[in-house]
Amino acid sequence: MTVAVVPGSFDPPTLGHVDVIGRAVDVFDQVIIAVVENPSKSALFTVEERTSMLEEICGEWGNTTVDHFNGLLVDFARLKEADVIVKGLRAVSDFEYELQMAQMNHHLSTVHTVFLPTSPEHAYLSSSLVKEVGRFGGSLDGLVSPVVAAALKERFE
Ligand code: PNS
Repeated sequence: MTVAVVPGSFDPPTLGHVDVIGRAVDVFDQVIIAVVENPSKSALFTVEERTSMLEEICGEWGNTTVDHFNGLLVDFARLKEADVIVKGLRAVSDFEYELQMAQMNHHLSTVHTVFLPTSPEHAYLSSSLVKEVGRFGGSLDGLVSPVVAAALKERFE
């Protein structure tokens, strides 16, 4: 059985994240979505809120679980006995930093990173842009799931 970890801030999860998770679900037997608790980044949503949104969005896939971690991703992956880390690539511009992280993670442990490309229609999507659109009352259709759109609306009201 192959176990994949899909890590991220998911603040909030976008349809781009959901796209990558769905691809990982197709490829691996078990997918652990890992929400990072990053004290250096001020998040709009708590780890619990992000976890709960992801559980609601990804519940339809029986082979996913949502968890959270702090510290090094490789330590979390080892704890969960994961075979691979999955990262989504939106554009070539993502690749340089993602490659560096994959190489560092492989140096720290022997875990492999697999890159999965997002659909072109999600290439421009990011959590920060979604927050900006939400903050100024723009339409979130096609950017996030309804549960996330509702949470953003409530947060900015
Ligand atoms: O959604 P993000 O913010 O791009 O996710 C980044 C994440 C969580 C994958 C990355 O920051 C991470 O792995 N953080 C854990 C700390 C760590 O392991 N750092 C070394 C990575 S080379």
